[in-house]
Amino acid sequence: QFNVLHRFKGILFSAMSSEALLNSLDSFDAREDDVFLVSYPKSGTHWIAEVIENIPNAGITLTSPIEFGDISKFEELKMYSKRRVIPTHLSYDMLPMNIKQKQCKIIYIVRNPKDTAVSLFHYYKDNPNLPCIETWATFLELFLRGDVVYGSWFDHVLNWEEHENDKNILIIFYEEMKEDLFKSIKKIATFLGINVSDSEINKIARKTSFSEMKNNAAKINCDPNHTICALTSNRNLVFRKGAVGDWINYFTSKQKRVFDELFTEKMKHSELARHFED
Ligand code: PPS
Repeated sequence: QFNVLHRFKGILFSAMSSEALLNSLDSFDAREDDVFLVSYPKSGTHWIAEVIENIPNAGITLTSPIEFGDISKFEELKMYSKRRVIPTHLSYDMLPMNIKQKQCKIIYIVRNPKDTAVSLFHYYKDNPNLPCIETWATFLELFLRGDVVYGSWFDHVLNWEEHENDKNILIIFYEEMKEDLFKSIKKIATFLGINVSDSEINKIARKTSFSEMKNNAAKINCDPNHTICALTSNRNLVFRKGAVGDWINYFTSKQKRVFDELFTEKMKHSELARHFED
């Protein structure tokens, strides 16, 4: 079942991330004004990318993910003259050294792990670049073991949480965006040092609603410049339900118990985990 995936440093990656590229990450030349848009898969990366792209006069270009492609990637990234917003699903530890040394701005988006698991289950089913796992029960076992693309949700989030107080890192929650998109847009713009008026924020909020983004997905489909997740260029696969709490329709009570036990154990020292207690 892992025929379309490969392991690098123990973590599963799709074939879209070549081993040569992953091996050469540390040779990436970051610019001080680069912005990295980071998440575990299915946590809301496309949403934040759309927000940033809709900020008027932001002076940015959204690129494809740093781990998407082959060894020519870094040459391609050099061609952008504007400030680059670069998405990635990498852990903090795997991020190119240069980004850390230059203290580039990083936005890390995190989502309730149960909803993330359900979303990733569907992505596995729909995305030809991922193996098809027939049943939810089997997928959930893999997810809990971290035997899925980009590894364990717990390890990813804990690794990023170690850096939550770094002044160049902003952590945003998917659920907080659902609750108050206006506030989240303001937070993102302020973090990037861009002024936006309230009426502009309202406009951005309308343009980045789930229905708007889902309806527009087909128009910019397969445009490599809008490849935000290193797992596909097909935006039609991304916008499924866009809801908080959809996990309830999938987890049996036993699965919830097993999940919660592991969550409690793994996240016992995590402050961030409090956001996800039921
Ligand atoms: S990817 O492909 O890994 O980069 O996916 P990512 O963009 O991180 O996350 C995809 C999920 O985010 C949902 N989404 C949204 N929800 C609410 N509002 C908006 N505007 C929005 N845009 C994307 C998307 O539908 C995926 O979640 P699910 O639960 O599968 O619908």
